[in-house]
Amino acid sequence: MAGTMLQPLYKSLASLEPEPQLIDYASARAGFSWAAARAELAGLPDGGLNIAWEAVDRQVNEGRGDALALIWLGKTGERREISYAELARASNRFANLLERSGLGKGDRVCVLAGRVPELLVTALGSLKAGAVFCPLFSAFGPDPIRVRLAKSQARLLVTTALLYQRKVQALRGDLPELERVLLTDGGGETGADSFHALLEAEADHRPAPRTRPEDSALLHFTSGTTGTPKGALHVHEAVVAHRLTGRLVLDLRPGDRYWCTADPGWVTGVSYGIIAPLANGATLVMDEAEFDARRWYAILERERVNVWYTAPTAVRMLMKAGADAARSHDFGALRFMASVGEPLNPEGVLWAQAVFGQPFHDTWWQTETGAIMIANYRSQEVRPGSMGRPLPGIEAAIVRRRPDGGADRLGPDQEGELALRAAWPSLFRAYLHDEARYRQCFADGWYLSGDLATHDADGYFWFVGRSDDVIKTSGHLIGPFEVESALLEHPAVAEAGVIGIPDPVAGEIIKAFVALKPDHAPSERLRKELIGFARTRLGPAVAPRELDFVDDLPKTRSGKIMRRLLRARELGLPAGDLSTLEGADEANA
Ligand code: WT7
Repeated sequence: MAGTMLQPLYKSLASLEPEPQLIDYASARAGFSWAAARAELAGLPDGGLNIAWEAVDRQVNEGRGDALALIWLGKTGERREISYAELARASNRFANLLERSGLGKGDRVCVLAGRVPELLVTALGSLKAGAVFCPLFSAFGPDPIRVRLAKSQARLLVTTALLYQRKVQALRGDLPELERVLLTDGGGETGADSFHALLEAEADHRPAPRTRPEDSALLHFTSGTTGTPKGALHVHEAVVAHRLTGRLVLDLRPGDRYWCTADPGWVTGVSYGIIAPLANGATLVMDEAEFDARRWYAILERERVNVWYTAPTAVRMLMKAGADAARSHDFGALRFMASVGEPLNPEGVLWAQAVFGQPFHDTWWQTETGAIMIANYRSQEVRPGSMGRPLPGIEAAIVRRRPDGGADRLGPDQEGELALRAAWPSLFRAYLHDEARYRQCFADGWYLSGDLATHDADGYFWFVGRSDDVIKTSGHLIGPFEVESALLEHPAVAEAGVIGIPDPVAGEIIKAFVALKPDHAPSERLRKELIGFARTRLGPAVAPRELDFVDDLPKTRSGKIMRRLLRARELGLPAGDLSTLEGADEANA
């Protein structure tokens, strides 16, 4: 597959479509400076920087107030348009409300909601007020929500009446720092207020924000192999990278209709679902409904989407739905299609070429990097299966960590850890309350991603896998520890080990191995009960889909579960180095 190259499509369409924003890769890199990227931004009147100002008010001030910021498609067929000027006013109201409530610089504001306009207003209003916006995935169950609300020390939460009743209300006693809950569609509930009634009472104008580039702006939770979720903290300066990558990779320009299918509960839904497109003057298409192949094709056609950013799991689901579903549609408006979050199969790239007349462009980045780092560009050949090449301004390498804490750079076709030369504007500045874990991400001036990869002699990067035990299911990064902890709360469970196993559509699905306490016996009923138990606590996106009973779990001598070995056994792979396995000495003796 590495040898297959797809010619840049724009050449054949040059007369119909605008020129790509990045044309000559080598010269774009050579001539690049972050200072010039920073100069693309408007900046605040007092010399500061604010993400929401760049995303919304700047567009209004430059005469695009009447342009659409959002086309919102409701689950039940509703369609709403919101202009940049309206979004500026609504986010001003939210910022004013925060200020009146005594919230400001550095205070965390969380949202637990699906794809609704209020989420945009909350995000942008929080940023204007200098608060830190933190989205939570609405499919999380009460356990992951409690952990994240507590760790973020959120003072205010915006959610819906249903999510509040089901998942948050019972936690209020555990969350003393959570002063206020606003409901987008309610208000009568105990301990919560109406979002809309409160905003109505606020002024829709306010002075320009006073944030500095290094002020905290965004908090995104992500997972590691062990321990509680990590809160990756980003600053306002990140918008330099959001705007730049939106332009150079997604090829966005003012007036584009842009659809990012990612859920705003995760970093893609914020960096590329809100900030990058608005900072480039595009119109967001936001669909509240869940995936449905026919609905998606209809949206692409009816809303005349120009740029589409989605995930490999969605691509595989579209492939599964069959080419017929796509056939009757006109995708003539589509200029660029890209994906992120997990490996994009070469078949997906080629399938797109057949159905849409253009390939999906794979991109790579992480919660911690804040913005796209490696990409296939509109003007460049796509090598199906490759994540592409580093952005201008980004130096990527494959390295091997040394025992002394340093890192050595490896050459072409050598497998190692994907690393990026620190720093760039959207690099995370901290893991909230986890200074030691933050430091472990860096060596010899490199940020180490935890991904294993190679690059070829032409500088294209190829994904190999993760160097740790985190699971990627439907594009969502899940920490095994969080799932194991939930299972351990069940009275029958003595030990639990959780891994990802390959799945043709979701990439990986979550599988649990459970050892029972002595007075409990494996049964089909107990298996179902445990899966149900986990679903209630963790939510369907995080709970194990499969569960096997085992007599005991392989552990290291220090007592850590060897998930690598569980995975090897499950998949019939070589077990690798077992020297640290508990009982290894006896076995070898
Ligand atoms: C992890 C980061 C990227 C923002 C959304 C997810 C995996 C990401 C690719 C890709 C193969 C990919 C990596 C990475 N990943 N992009 N193009 N090919 N794997 O952010 O939740 O922090 O996940 O997603 O393993 O480390 P995240």
